Amino acid sequence: MKGVILAAGKGSRLYPVTKVIPKPLLPIANKPTLEYAFDQLKGCGINEVCVVVGENEGVMRDALGDGSQFGLSLSYVRQNDPKGLAHAVGFAKEFVGGDDFVLYLGDAIYDQPLAPFVVQFQNSGAANLNLVKEVEDPRRFGVANVENGRIVKLVEKPAEPESNLAMAGMYVFGPQIWDVLPDLQPSGRGEYEITDAIQMLVDRGEVVVPGVYEGSWFDTGTLDSFLATTQFLTGSGQLVDESAEVDAELVGCVVIGPGVRVRAKRIEDSVILADAVVEVDGEISGSLIAGEVTRSGDLSDVILHGSME
Ligand code: DAU
Repeated sequence: MKGVILAAGKGSRLYPVTKVIPKPLLPIANKPTLEYAFDQLKGCGINEVCVVVGENEGVMRDALGDGSQFGLSLSYVRQNDPKGLAHAVGFAKEFVGGDDFVLYLGDAIYDQPLAPFVVQFQNSGAANLNLVKEVEDPRRFGVANVENGRIVKLVEKPAEPESNLAMAGMYVFGPQIWDVLPDLQPSGRGEYEITDAIQMLVDRGEVVVPGVYEGSWFDTGTLDSFLATTQFLTGSGQLVDESAEVDAELVGCVVIGPGVRVRAKRIEDSVILADAVVEVDGEISGSLIAGEVTRSGDLSDVILHGSME
């Protein structure tokens, strides 16, 4: 069993910070987002992992290296244009060879181990297992219909979902997936959808099963979800690196990285990344800051990289 992590997206929902720090490297609870993926894959007994990178390739390679610092062997393939998850996974074909593999979306974080789903896949004899989770509003996800323990239909971001089982960002595949990818067509939004590729497996009579996940699951792609994930992982909602100098009242979910110097009246629900220097003669709320800020007055709902006066 091998691991493939998709991390080639542009992270545009966290611009401008992700123009400088790729989203997969953004620290959540002072650990790079991808390290959560590495930990999960190691927990599944996987040692060989391929990361699909994009324009961020150089920074990603510099930061993650050969994986030895994480106890893994890492290799990289490049997807120049993020044309969809099925397009991205295609670049990992040579790496995977004839093995089974776990496909993990780089911005997903789970609080429960995923190893039982790998075992479920291996015992099922299926061509594919999809992690699914019941959610209240599944319209922004791939949605699966399950009958008699099998997935029989999948639709990407349906306007009118037929079930509330969202596809939750982790998949286990056998080699059958490589047979369908060449026939896949772009979806209405112009992407090669992994959801459509799996539907092709179903249509060709392959067994596709759900792995029902009941723990907490976060997709860290927006500032709100970034904060919610941080709050969840830190428990108290606050994490201040011991090397940071902080002169402010901290309220709610606040993360302050190493080497930060900050002076403000109060900081609420905000993330201040490593080495930032912040002098705000007021309150900071709902903000993600990487850089220098000098300001009289409040700072609210800002994503900032660089300097601001
Ligand atoms: O979060 C779960 C959802 O993830 C599933 O329910 C959907 O079925 C699935 O299509 C996916 O939807 P998103 O629209 O949320 O995917 P997103 O574009 O955010 O990409 C997920 C990860 O894959 C992210 O880490 C970036 C990476 N990626 C994305 C694309 C489009 C690539 O590496 N290459 C790509 O071409």
